[in-house]
Amino acid sequence: MMPLECRLTPAIQTGLALVMLTAWPAVNRAEDPADSKSDDLAISSMHLLRDQCIRCHNAKKNKGELNLARRALALKGGKEGPALIPGKSSESRIIQSLNPDSDSHMPPKKQLDDEQVATLGRWIDAGAEWLPAELVIKTKSLDPDKLGQLPGGYRPVLALALSPDDKQLAAGHGNSVIVHNIAEKDKPPLAKLTGHRDAIQSVAWSADGKHLATGGYRKVLLWNSAEWSLVGEISDLPGRVSAMTFTPDSASLVTASNASGQAGEVALWAIAGLAKRLSWSAHNGTVFDVSISPDGTTLATAGADKLVRFWSLAKGEQLMQIEAHSSPVLSLAYKPDGALLASGGADKELKIWDTKTREQKNLVTGHPGNVAAIAWPEKKAELITAGDDGALRVCNESSKRPGKTWAKAADLLHCLDATTDGKLLYGGADNGRIYAWDRNGNITRTLAPTKP
Ligand code: HEC
Repeated sequence: MMPLECRLTPAIQTGLALVMLTAWPAVNRAEDPADSKSDDLAISSMHLLRDQCIRCHNAKKNKGELNLARRALALKGGKEGPALIPGKSSESRIIQSLNPDSDSHMPPKKQLDDEQVATLGRWIDAGAEWLPAELVIKTKSLDPDKLGQLPGGYRPVLALALSPDDKQLAAGHGNSVIVHNIAEKDKPPLAKLTGHRDAIQSVAWSADGKHLATGGYRKVLLWNSAEWSLVGEISDLPGRVSAMTFTPDSASLVTASNASGQAGEVALWAIAGLAKRLSWSAHNGTVFDVSISPDGTTLATAGADKLVRFWSLAKGEQLMQIEAHSSPVLSLAYKPDGALLASGGADKELKIWDTKTREQKNLVTGHPGNVAAIAWPEKKAELITAGDDGALRVCNESSKRPGKTWAKAADLLHCLDATTDGKLLYGGADNGRIYAWDRNGNITRTLAPTKP
C-alpha cells in the first residue's frame, strides 16, 4: 500500500450509496397533520423499498430492467411491464413478487414478513405516494474535509485482490469496487459495489472465496460473493482502513485503521456477526500493511514508525518487533512456507527477514522509489515488487539487486496481487487502470473501470 499522506481535496463528486447518485428534487412536504397518517405509510414503504429492493433496482443495477428509485420508473416497470399500479395492489407486480409462491420471488433470497407486505399493499391501494427523500440512505454528517473524498475524475486503484480461484479480481476504482471477470476475456464486470463515499483503501477475499471485504474511510463493508449482497458493515473505525486480511480459516477479518496523527489500530472481527474480538494499538502512526503467517498464528504489521511487528492472533500480544527500515514500512509479504517475510519501505529498500530469529536474511537495493507492494506467490526464492515508476521487479531472497525489471505501467502502482501459480500479476495504478503481466514481463492486458 502507498502512503496517502497527501490531503485529497474535498469532493464535488461523491457517489455515496447507490441511491444517492441520483439528484433528488427537493420535496415540499405538507405540514398539515391530517396528512401524517398517509405520510407514515409512505415513509414506511419508502424505507422498505430502500432497504429491501433498491440495491438491485436502481439506475446502475436494474435487475429485470426495473428501476424502483423513482415513481415514474416503477410505473413504467421492467421487462414484464408495470411494477406498480396505484390503487391496485393485487395487480401490482411489486406486491405479486413478494408472495412466497411467486415465480420470480422478491427479494430473491428472502421473505418479507406479512406486516411488511401488508404495508406496501396498503400504500399502493392508497395511491402510492412517493417520497424520494426517504429513499436516500441517511449518513452521518461528517466534516467533508475529513472524509477525504475524491476530487471528480480521480479514481486511483489503491487496492485490489484476486479471488482464491483466480477467476475474479476485485479492485477499488475510486470509491466503488469493481469485480472484474478475468476468467473470460472481454466480459463485463461481475459486480460494481458502491456504498463507500471516498477512496477504497483496502480489499480482501476470504480464503474460502465466500466473502469480500472492502475498506474505505472509517468503514468496512462485507459482501457475499455468491450474489454480491451486503452482509455486514463495520463503521466508526478510527480512520481510513489502510489494510485488511482474512485469517486462513476464513472465520475472522483483520483490519488496520488509522486516524491521522494517532496510533494505527489493528482489530480482529469474527465474520459471523462482525463482532469485534480483539483490538490494539499496533504502531505509532499509520499501519500500511498487514500479512498473516500461512499457519494463521501470527500477524505481521508494517508501520509508519519504521517498524515491523509480529503479533499473536489468538491474544493480540506482541511477539517481537524489528527496526526494519529507515522510513515508513509500506508493504509486507510472507513467503508461502512462512519461514521468511519480505518488507518494502519508503527508503526504496526491500528486506527479507527470518520469521523465527528476526535475522535480516537479505537487503535488496536498487528500487527507484517506494516499494509499494510485494507479491510472493510461490514457495520459491522469487518475489515481485511494484513501485513508483510503474514497473514490476523480480527480486530474489538472496540477490542484492532486483533481477528483471518488467514492462512499465503508464503510472505509478499502488497495489499488486498474483495468481496462485504465480503466472499472472495484477497491479493497480494511480491512473485508475489495472495492468496484467505474464511471467515474461509483458503487459498482456489492461482493465479500466466501465464508465460510471
Ligand atoms: C438481490 C437483488 C434483488 C433484490 C434485493 C430485489 N430484486 Fe427484484 N429482481 C431481481 C432480479 C434478478 C430480477 C429479474 C428476475 C427475472 O427476470 O426472473 C428482479 C425482478 C423484479 C421484478 C419483475 C420485473 C419485471 O418486470 O420483470 C419486480 C416487480 C421486482 N423485482 C420487485 C422487487 C421488489 C419489490 C423488491 C424488494 C421487496 C426486489 N425486487 C428486490 C433482483 C432483486
